[in-house]
Amino acid sequence: MNCKKIYFRLASLVVILTTIGVREISAQNKSITRMGSMNTLSFDQGWSFARYGLQPDGTRKEEPSGLEVSSFHDSGWQKLNLPHDWAISGPFRIELEGSTGKLPWKGIGWYRKHFTVHQADAGKRVFVDFDGAMANAKIWLNGKYVGTWPYGYSSFRMDLTPFLEFGKENVLAVRLDTEDWDSRWYPGAGIYRHVWLVKTDPVHVGHWGTYITTPQVSDQKAVVNIVTTVNNQSLKDEKAIVRTTLYELDKLDKPSLQVGVTKDISIDINAGENKGVSSKAILLKPKLWSIETPHRYVAKTTIHINGKVVDSYFTPFGVRTIEFTAKNGFLLNGKRVQIQGTCNHHDLGALGAAFNLSALTRQLKLLKDMGCNSLRTSHNPPAPELLEMADKMGFLVWDEAFDAWEKGKRKNDYNKIFDEWHDKDLTALVHRDRNHPSVFIWSIGNEVMEQQNAELTKHLVDIVHRKDPTRPVSNGYNDPDGGRSSGAVVALDLMGVNYFFGQQARWDADPRYANKPTLGSETSSCVSTRGTYYFGGTEYKNWQITSYDTASPGWGCAPDEQFRTNAKYPNLLGEYVWTGFDYLGEPTPYNSDETNLLNFRTDASKKEDLEKQLAAIRKNNPPSRSSYFGIIDLAGFPKDRFYSYQAQWRPNLPMAHILPHWNWPERLDSITPVHVYTSGDEAELFLNGKSLGRKAKTPGKDFRLVWDKVIYQPGVLKVLSYKKGKLWATDVVKTTGAMAKLALSSDRTSTKADKDDLCFITLKVTDKAGLMVPGSNPDIHFSIEGPGEIVATDNGDATSFVSFQSHERPAFNGMALLIVKPKKGAKGMITIKAQSDGLATGFTKIQVQ
Ligand code: GAL
Repeated sequence: MNCKKIYFRLASLVVILTTIGVREISAQNKSITRMGSMNTLSFDQGWSFARYGLQPDGTRKEEPSGLEVSSFHDSGWQKLNLPHDWAISGPFRIELEGSTGKLPWKGIGWYRKHFTVHQADAGKRVFVDFDGAMANAKIWLNGKYVGTWPYGYSSFRMDLTPFLEFGKENVLAVRLDTEDWDSRWYPGAGIYRHVWLVKTDPVHVGHWGTYITTPQVSDQKAVVNIVTTVNNQSLKDEKAIVRTTLYELDKLDKPSLQVGVTKDISIDINAGENKGVSSKAILLKPKLWSIETPHRYVAKTTIHINGKVVDSYFTPFGVRTIEFTAKNGFLLNGKRVQIQGTCNHHDLGALGAAFNLSALTRQLKLLKDMGCNSLRTSHNPPAPELLEMADKMGFLVWDEAFDAWEKGKRKNDYNKIFDEWHDKDLTALVHRDRNHPSVFIWSIGNEVMEQQNAELTKHLVDIVHRKDPTRPVSNGYNDPDGGRSSGAVVALDLMGVNYFFGQQARWDADPRYANKPTLGSETSSCVSTRGTYYFGGTEYKNWQITSYDTASPGWGCAPDEQFRTNAKYPNLLGEYVWTGFDYLGEPTPYNSDETNLLNFRTDASKKEDLEKQLAAIRKNNPPSRSSYFGIIDLAGFPKDRFYSYQAQWRPNLPMAHILPHWNWPERLDSITPVHVYTSGDEAELFLNGKSLGRKAKTPGKDFRLVWDKVIYQPGVLKVLSYKKGKLWATDVVKTTGAMAKLALSSDRTSTKADKDDLCFITLKVTDKAGLMVPGSNPDIHFSIEGPGEIVATDNGDATSFVSFQSHERPAFNGMALLIVKPKKGAKGMITIKAQSDGLATGFTKIQVQ
């Protein structure tokens, strides 16, 4: 046979093998976003729920004993599917803490699920994986205690096998208790994330049992190291072969082209043993993961015994390099990337803590549109899907573990469980998340009370580094001077500073920290209410806050001020703004909870002043139940600040944004300042065609253009923005007519009923010409026909006590939100209607496929 023939034979063999590999996976038609075993089934459907202890109205209901036993009759319990947040339906109660959303989240929740595992599976291991359960989870199977996991933000696995009866009905019982948990924000309550049933052969890849790193990356090749933990849970010693094949992961999360394979590794694994296996594959011409092109790969690890595949395990991963420097900032794949991040709590507004992928995706799309490139999961481990979406959409993630260590900020926060659980929780976080290309920084805490404790800091950093030495560890400091002078910061790879950048020059001069890369782990904390404007120096009124983007608590600043600081210290890595979205709880400055005082714990004089303010707030009993910090409001509607960040973070996007609105009949002939955010460098403002002057930004100093002497006349306000002398972008704001109609627009025209997809419908109150009428708050009645149901409504008003489940609510400053779910398994057209007395009804339609 000549060489040419051999070459072709080999080539076709490779093609055949590749195709088999691909077919083998796609035959499962499996979307791979989650690391884990092939045999992972959703366990969300068909749960029963009952609430004991504290009830929504504040009364107590005795918790009977024996709720875990199989024979207990739960037929009278509420039937539901997960994820579930038992507190989001309220009611809001004025006497409850604003810091946790004035919602009745404290209580004891019991969940039970009856299920059968087929007799044919006898001999398998069966696990239940919880992505998160709030809080103090205790789990029983068939009346037998299986285990506990107190921290509500951690993902965890329980092995059901010892108590499982194959081919018969089993009862899984979960008890959650939030009565002994305190929080500085709304934590939600219940099994609020997904649950999975995993079936494996006795010899299988362990839980989060792969660790993929890429120690060498060039244009030509990447070395991919794979460490696999194999568990032998059988009673027999076994000989196994471990092999990992690499594929590209396409946009639909399907493995496509095979791009590499490891050598087969043979292992002897004794009964009951867990064994680590290292292998290596070479990826030629790797497609790097980046913010703009987030290429992903997936590793399929198979375990073979006697020629039979006993386990297939998938690990999505990416190939990228990260480098943190004190002088040149952060480098992704060798290129400088300024961190333009937002901090976010985990709630999804009107849906509460109950996880939903389309709600999260909506949030992430808005952040991307603003130019945000990084997420800080303040102040706890996120839902796994957040990282899966960050991998897919191109966000970098600061992955955070804790808001408190040994000394709590509240009586019953993490301090209660720190000693026993911090190692397990940190390990769970790092093992779960260390294969995500998006995760680039670990954070061991936020403004913890022990931030000066060098020993404890080092202890926690070491735990993380043992599990993953490839990423830096940071901590968010609100007492950076204290942390530096005590030496605690020495243990960290990165210095995270909340709000105090003014002293950076002094810190850079300290030889201990001159080479410590630093970033603004929390910045700004500007507060505002969408569509609300106050004049003449007033920033706060009626429990709302002006949207001129000037107000912030004492420790914070306007976005512009932070941009100025960033410009002054170009060596800093960037910032995480507090916060991307408004969230439930912490309605500063109307927060009547004592954690308000924490921000000044290092300055006694300020504390005294704050205590007085707090006493006054408490006397007035504020109705505020959600935050004002968001760049985007609780309903997902951008505030003016959105455009401030967009102008700065997307300099190549031609945009201009005028504020305020131009409906001020009571301000006729009065001075009404006009501000413009633009990615241009100059702009000219016109009122009713007359120029009010052209203004230019001084680089590094001005981040908005201000016409502060505009005399109000109704009509048309127009801005022409210029970049390098050329027309760049325009914006127009018009005085509107009276309210005339309701306009509905959906974020999708069709949807699938087989997923957990939600449709987000925006309502605008408009005049006859279709312009949104500022300040309009008419009562709206929403109704729906066809195969769908209303899940929630909202309007972004932080003081509204209308239940999120209500179909009636006023618009707030011209807008409201409706969230609709298609009925499972149904098809047809959903018609949604919004009605209000005297206004033309709004309609929209969504096709359910
Ligand atoms: C920070 C704290 C955040 C939030 C914020 C409000 O000090 O880390 O969790 O409370 O203040 O400005």
